[in-house]
Amino acid sequence: MKNECWLLEFKIRFLEEEIFQVFEKLPFYQGCSYSKEKNHLELKLYFSKFISEDIFKISVSKFLNKNYRKLFDSIKIIISNITEIDWLKNNAKLFQPVEYSDFVFYGDHIKNHLKFKKNMIRLNSSDAFGSGSHATTRGCINIFNYLQKFFIVEKFLDIGCGSGILSICAYKYWRPSKVLSVDIEKNSILRSKLNAKNNNLNNLLKFEHTNGNKVFNKSFYSKFDLIVANIISSELLKLAQDIAKYLDNNSYLVLSGILKSQENSIVSKFKNFKLLLVKKQYVENWVTILMIKKDKIH
Ligand SMILES: C[S@@+](CC[C@H](N)C(=O)[O-])C[C@H]1O[C@@H](n2cnc3c(N)ncnc32)[C@H](O)[C@@H]1O
Repeated sequence: MKNECWLLEFKIRFLEEEIFQVFEKLPFYQGCSYSKEKNHLELKLYFSKFISEDIFKISVSKFLNKNYRKLFDSIKIIISNITEIDWLKNNAKLFQPVEYSDFVFYGDHIKNHLKFKKNMIRLNSSDAFGSGSHATTRGCINIFNYLQKFFIVEKFLDIGCGSGILSICAYKYWRPSKVLSVDIEKNSILRSKLNAKNNNLNNLLKFEHTNGNKVFNKSFYSKFDLIVANIISSELLKLAQDIAKYLDNNSYLVLSGILKSQENSIVSKFKNFKLLLVKKQYVENWVTILMIKKDKIH
């Protein structure tokens, strides 16, 4: 028998992240996806039973303040029965749990019956990079796995956090007292916060939207024991000097998003800022580089 599935589609001018927690409270809610257009968001919400427009609006408005209630009252919702499409099954096929290294990444649609014993990370990466299947992310996870065997991290920085996947993995390995994640995409910040919340790491991880010209928009004086940056090579080269200043002597840096043909230029650029090559990790055509900061290079 097919799983009943209803799709509610609507456009809305703006949304704050709390609304996604409101959706989670609705009966028969299965999950959602959204895309960001110029002036609005397009949302798709999935339910396992029919829910009328009125019931949906009433149920949502119970949890909302006055301004949001008004906003929701005015939206036009298209409801369709997509049982025949068997969304859950299709989706489950598309978003099977991804098992990698010490982790299993699984989507929002998977509620029960997970047989894995590893570190389970609930991850929705629909609108942000970082599902756990890309070579550049995997390279970073491999290096984390290597580092955690001998190095303790108290302060961790994730540059280009995407879905927040590497911040969550780092937290699982080291439980640092400070985890800070930055990204130039507002969507990524929103998504990372939600993913952190869904993994009960709500107040343990901090997120900041940046403009990409520097690691932080304003000057920031803290240093980190481990920084990861999985962003493209040109961004790494641009940020090299700024990244280096956030590392203390003997702190580590993981750089990813680098094609094999670009590795030499990255290593020599960071060497200018007292970072020495420790290890390279190749996955497919990509390389992830581990470097250590040495304030005194002999
Ligand atoms: C390849 S994804 C990595 C996502 C995730 N960290 C992972 O490893 O799967 C790169 C992310 O970096 C962000 N990004 C690109 N340039 C950046 C910059 N200069 N500063 C901060 N974030 C940047 C992008 O928006 C994107 O979310």
